[in-house]
Amino acid sequence: MKAILLAGGKGTRLRPLTIHTPKPIVPIFDRPFLHYQLDLLKQVPEIDEVILSLNYQPRRIEEIYGDGGDSGLAIRYVVEPVPLGTAGAVRYAGESLRESVVVFNGDVLTQIDLAAVIALHRERRAKATIVLTPVENPAAYGLVETDARGNIQRFLEKPRADEITSNNINAGIYVLEPETFDRIPKDTPWSIERGFFPSLIERQETFVAYVYGGYWIDIGTPEKYIQVHRDIMDARYNVAPFAAAPSTACVSPRARVEEGAVLRGPCFIDEGTVIKAGARVGPYSVIGRQCHVEEDAVVEDAIVWATSRISQEAVVQQAILGRHCHIGRNAIVNHGAVLGDKSVVTDYSRV
Ligand code: GDD
Ligand code: MG
Repeated sequence: MKAILLAGGKGTRLRPLTIHTPKPIVPIFDRPFLHYQLDLLKQVPEIDEVILSLNYQPRRIEEIYGDGGDSGLAIRYVVEPVPLGTAGAVRYAGESLRESVVVFNGDVLTQIDLAAVIALHRERRAKATIVLTPVENPAAYGLVETDARGNIQRFLEKPRADEITSNNINAGIYVLEPETFDRIPKDTPWSIERGFFPSLIERQETFVAYVYGGYWIDIGTPEKYIQVHRDIMDARYNVAPFAAAPSTACVSPRARVEEGAVLRGPCFIDEGTVIKAGARVGPYSVIGRQCHVEEDAVVEDAIVWATSRISQEAVVQQAILGRHCHIGRNAIVNHGAVLGDKSVVTDYSRV
């Protein structure tokens, strides 16, 4: 069985972080986001190949994963000539498929039991099965209504406030039958949410919901990107290194924390990073590889990508810093600031 991972979006809501780093490989702690999704797919032994459907900066992603190598899954890359939308991308990537295929949005993190979703799809002999998950406000998602047997009655992408009739939304995880792909126009942009799913309902195909109430998040905005890190640090989503030691200060053995530096968990400090005497790294901070946090600097509730420098007495709070940023002495970066790669904040500046 194959899986198609839709990973071709531009990640506009995560800009400037996604200018040089496509969304599927933004780091979550010390690993690219895709790594967590591939781990989930690996749990289904039947899935032997993952097709990465790419468009935006595909080479950056190929460089990291190659042919799958030691990831334990064969990986194939399909790059659209132009962005074909979520349905166009599935058709383009799934052209040669003859058996049921798992499709995954490339920006969702979850602990769903995929094998159970596939089993339901087979049991119901469905043409399509989609995973639904309850959220407080469905406005940013695809709203889905079902009947008592879990048949999908309505699919409404990005509903207006007065159209919200249910809390269940499309979780971006599907099992599809390729025989339905001929309904997707070839080589033109087409949306799975606005075109393909409504067409299944219109034709009264067997279109089934699997409702999942466990951990699920779409990392597509800075707020959600920060939330994922918090959830992992608090073990709401269980992965290494916090699954075994939630809410602790997790420091790479190859980082250097000088005497007199203060670490308050939960936090994460990656290899090669130096935390100088008098610096404070507070709760919910993530500091990537080879960073420098200098004397008396403060980092709290912030995510700092690799090779950045936070100079003496600078304060970084509730912020995200891209790669190779330089925060000058006594500068303050806070209140939701998101700085792109190589940003320079001069001494005493406030962002
Ligand atoms: N290959 C390819 N080509 N991939 C694409 C394209 C394209 O033209 N456009 C989007 N994608 C990928 C994105 O990279 C992302 O992984 C996925 O398709 C979904 O696109 P988003 O831009 O993240 O959509 P969304 O978050 O607004 O809404 C979607 O996800 C929600 C759940 O997170 C919809 O599927 C909603 O119905 C759903 O609720
Ligand atoms: Mg999304």
